[in-house]
Formats: sequence, C-alpha cells, structure tokens
Amino acid sequence: MSDTPMLNTVRASFPILSETMNGRPLVFLDSAASAQKPECVIEAMSNAARHCYANIHRGLYEMSEKATQAYEAVRDDVARFLNAADRREIVFTKNSTEAFNLLAHSLGGQLKPGQAVLISELEHHANIVPWLMLRDRVGIELRVAPMNAQGDIDLAAYEALLEDGKVALVSITHMSNVLGTITPVRRLAELAHQYGAKIIVDGSQSAVHRKIDVQALDVDFFAFTGHKLYGPTGVGVLWGRLALLEDMPPFLGGGDMIRTVSFKEATWADVPHRFEAGTPAILEVLGLGAAIRFVESLGRDKIEQHEQDLVAYAEKVFTSLDGVKVLGAPKERGGVFSLVVDGAHPHDLAVLLDQQGIAIRAGQHCAEPLMSCLGVASTARASFAVYTTHDEIDVLAKGIERARALLV
Ligand code: ALA
Repeated sequence: MSDTPMLNTVRASFPILSETMNGRPLVFLDSAASAQKPECVIEAMSNAARHCYANIHRGLYEMSEKATQAYEAVRDDVARFLNAADRREIVFTKNSTEAFNLLAHSLGGQLKPGQAVLISELEHHANIVPWLMLRDRVGIELRVAPMNAQGDIDLAAYEALLEDGKVALVSITHMSNVLGTITPVRRLAELAHQYGAKIIVDGSQSAVHRKIDVQALDVDFFAFTGHKLYGPTGVGVLWGRLALLEDMPPFLGGGDMIRTVSFKEATWADVPHRFEAGTPAILEVLGLGAAIRFVESLGRDKIEQHEQDLVAYAEKVFTSLDGVKVLGAPKERGGVFSLVVDGAHPHDLAVLLDQQGIAIRAGQHCAEPLMSCLGVASTARASFAVYTTHDEIDVLAKGIERARALLV
C-alpha cells in the first residue's frame, strides 16, 4: 500500500483527515501519542449509545444482555488479534499505564526484597514509575538494561543483568516511542526464561504497526492501549498467560470482580473479571473492537509494509536535511523519528510547524530517563500511521526548513 488509491481509501475512512489546522490541510504526524479514529470506530460507539446501551454483566433484560454479548465479543476480537490461547487471558484496562500498575501491584507485590525487576533505558514512564513505586513499597531492586549507540538493546548487557538469577520480572518495550526501536522480544523472552524470569512486554506502539502473536513471541504478559490503535481513549488491554493471571490477586476492588462479599471478607471472581472492577468502559471497548476489525480488514502485513516504506523514505529525507539530526539508528525501526534541529528548540519548531498545519510532538515524550541517556533535553518527534503519506513527510521536511530559516 504505497501512496495509491488504496491509501486514499484508507484516508477517506478517517473523517478528521479532511480538516484543516491553522487554515492548512492537516498533516497529522503525532499518531504515536494518539492516533486518529476511523468512521467505523466512531459509528460503533455512537450506534451502541443510540440503540443498545446498558450496563453489562448485571442486567436481566434484553438490552443489557445484548450489550454484555457485544462487550464480551470484543474479548474474542482481542484474543484473535494477539493470538492468545484463551479468551480469559484478555483483561480490559483503562490503558497500558493501568496494565503496568496492575502488574506491579498484583505480580510485583508477590516479590521479596533481594529480587529484582529489569527494565531498559528505552522505557516510557508508564513502564518505569510503577516499578519505582514497587521498589519503594517492597524493597526490590530495579535494574536497567542499557541501549547501544544505535538505540538497540545491548543484548550482552541485558543477559549479564539476568545472570545472577535475582531478576524475577523483565518489563520491556517492544517499540520505543522515542527512537522507534523494535526490540528483539523473542530473544529477550528466551533469555529471561533461561534465567528464571517472567517477561512483560509494552506493546503500546508495536501493536499498531506489527502483527502480534503472543504465543510465538513466547512472552508472559503483553499490554497495549486502544487510542493508539485507532480506537478510543479509556480502554487498554493486558494479556497474560492464564495460569499466571490465576495466581495473581486483584488490583482494584469493587463491583463485578468478586465472588462473595460480606462485611468480614470478600472472595474473588475468576479471571479475567477479577481484574475488571467497577463498570468498565463499555462504549470504548466496543470502539476498540471496531478498531481491531478495521486493522485486520486492511491486513496487518500490508500495514507493516506501508509503514516500512515510509520509514525508509523518511530516513532518507530527514538525514539529507541541513542541521537536522535523526536520533538513533536501530536495526529495525517502527514509524517514529526523533529529530534534533540545530538552532531550533523542539517547542519553537512545533509551534512554527503548527502554523503550517503540521502536528508533531515536542518534548520528552514521557521518557525523561531516555532523554538523559541520549544527552538531549527534548526532541521533535514525527510519528506515522496507516494513513500517513510520503507527501506528508515531504511537507514536514519543507516545514522544518522554513522554520529553521526563521529561527537560525
Ligand atoms: N505515550 C504517548 C507518546 O509517546 C503519549 O506520545
């Protein structure tokens, strides 16, 4: 799917792409922060709200039963999307951040002082802060696997950190939201298991761009969020191996996650409901289902191919620009580029690009420790999606040149 009629059809599925920003056609290059929504996602949510909305798992009337069926059908969609072995392995969360907090509480809470959790320098705050909180609560050690100069995980250093057998959990990104690095998850999982650790994967970025097969990756937990996958905000997914989830206590307490409650004690519902306390994000889960079916209908191999074409093109374009440095040169890159532009603070650059109708993200990208490792205070980040065109990369390049001419 290069910039062909098929891409035009894809773009036509996203109503917002015909909007303007500051009087210019919208060039949306901030999909790694939150992707735009296709009509089918908007429709799924609005149809349910208009025609078949009620609380789920609670009502004994037709509409509630239908809403429950629709909600539970999305669990099947997600299980298929990830190639999970069992639909009960799918837990709906608020986002990836909540998934990591759940794991730090329910899985990490079983760790003892002397044990360690291993993350990497590439992590987003969502996969750092819950472990720092766990460290302070339980007294575990938090280890950090370094990246090399290209922005890939240093595999020898990663293995060395596992070797003493103290690491009980590895929690690592599948795709950096700053450098676009795709990490070798299959190998990371193999090494983690070899030294007796479980592995959690942050798929917030990768699930959007890559076909995910949790069984083939041989990981133990995988988290992603709906709003980056063309779905709504307020819904995410935690996948975990059934036996591991069954061994974990709940994270949040409340309605729908219990078997029995008295004033003396409560007992827990089975997995996955044990981890879904309170009324869930019903409409948003339905929107996520529509997003998943949309992505599947385009073909995940075709999406990956399109984005790889864009990455190769963008690399050429950005590296040929005067005064522009592309951070990282990972072996494999998803559709994310962090740029440092001589003489232009990323925030000033973003404002000048905004005036030209171009949306990028500027700042630390919720990855302050990674910024320190890279030796920069902040970057300007362009990120791609299924609707991104080669033309938009050219528009951004011209925009950067124009901005530079004003600033330098
Ligand atoms: N995690 C999101 C980003 O990378 C918000 O921009």
